[in-house]
Amino acid sequence: MSKRAKRALVTGITGQDGSHLAELLLDKGYEVLGMVRRTSTVNWERIGHLQDRITFVHGDLLDQVSLLTILQEYQPDEVYNLAAQSFVPTSWQQPVLTGEFTALGVTRMLDAIRTINPEIRFYQASSSEMFGKVVETPQRETTPFYPRSPYGVAKVYGHWITVNYRESYDLHATSGILFNHEGPRRGLEFVTRKISHGVARIKLGLANELRLGNLDAKRDWGYAGDYVEAMWLMLQQDSPDDYVVATGETHSVREFCELAFDRVGLDWEKYVVVDERFFRPAEVDLLVGDASKARRVLGWEPKTSFEELVNLMVDADLALLEGKLQGIS
Ligand code: NAP
Ligand code: GDD
Repeated sequence: MSKRAKRALVTGITGQDGSHLAELLLDKGYEVLGMVRRTSTVNWERIGHLQDRITFVHGDLLDQVSLLTILQEYQPDEVYNLAAQSFVPTSWQQPVLTGEFTALGVTRMLDAIRTINPEIRFYQASSSEMFGKVVETPQRETTPFYPRSPYGVAKVYGHWITVNYRESYDLHATSGILFNHEGPRRGLEFVTRKISHGVARIKLGLANELRLGNLDAKRDWGYAGDYVEAMWLMLQQDSPDDYVVATGETHSVREFCELAFDRVGLDWEKYVVVDERFFRPAEVDLLVGDASKARRVLGWEPKTSFEELVNLMVDADLALLEGKLQGIS
């Protein structure tokens, strides 16, 4: 009898990482189940090109019954839990909802796995935001957490409940502590995409300024397409564990601006306006990761440099907006 293809359930499939991970898993011959929430209009912009190759299943991290039903009905081999309220500023406006999705949602999924089939391998999308006001640089798996937002606090809960279910029930539950990763599919509200999209708008005469918050914040920015490979590699290991995934380089928002405006031959200082509205109640000033464990154990390494990332994002937004302009002319 022929063996069936491996089956993976991806929560958050409509998001940036979900779309990249779905591509990777389909390329590897997986049957991909994409968990989506019911919406009045379909928001499959990032996965439109994969729509016919994914099996969509309706569920919500707030709804335990939906998770149990999906696992029972489809019997996945692997679950990638990417769904979350992922925008840090929103977590101050909706702290309780952020906790429900981003923290308790993880327990709901882990407990559904424990109940239906404890052999399922589980990946939790943990975050460098957990390091927050960093107590050590660079940050690694053993660095203590000091979250600085309700989102960061919720992710710390998600991380520890993953470790706890691993230790309590012997689940193959892994936590990937990913540093910021970006690309043309990034939501428009995150700073890198806000800049690349803003630069393209200015270049095409659609805007004349770009309003930003703290230009001094530093992040370890990688390319999302590279990072989803690390998620998959983690679930192929014999034992579950925690892994930092990062480039090991840090750059400020200001540097991102400089490079992005340079790409289209403009001087960033003429267009960027610092606006208090985009400052946060508590800031994460500096993130830089040490991914040596991921390199050593998983054989993973980032392939896209910081400059390549900035350029590919600006180029993609220029092409996107030029296409839209041609469509209306
Ligand atoms: P994203 O683009 O914001 O996508 C979030 C996804 O979660 C969307 O598909 C969204 O669905 C879904 N979702 C939200 N609430 C849900 C709920 N209650 N039930 C089911 N689905 C829900 O995020 P991303 O950048 O791809 O990040 C993926 C994951 O990695 C997130 O958990 C994020 O916190 C974490 N992370 C991201 C980074 C990064 O730099 N990108 C770094 C570290 C960790 P809708 O389309 O229906 O809203
Ligand atoms: N969004 C935004 N908008 N951020 C700005 C702006 C602005 O206009 N101006 C400056 N920033 C600064 C923020 O203050 C922050 O220090 C930095 O840019 C990055 O902000 P975001 O791009 O919103 O990302 P984040 O680092 O807060 O969170 C992202 O990365 C985490 C991993 O560390 C998200 O993807 C999280 O979901 C993820 O866990």
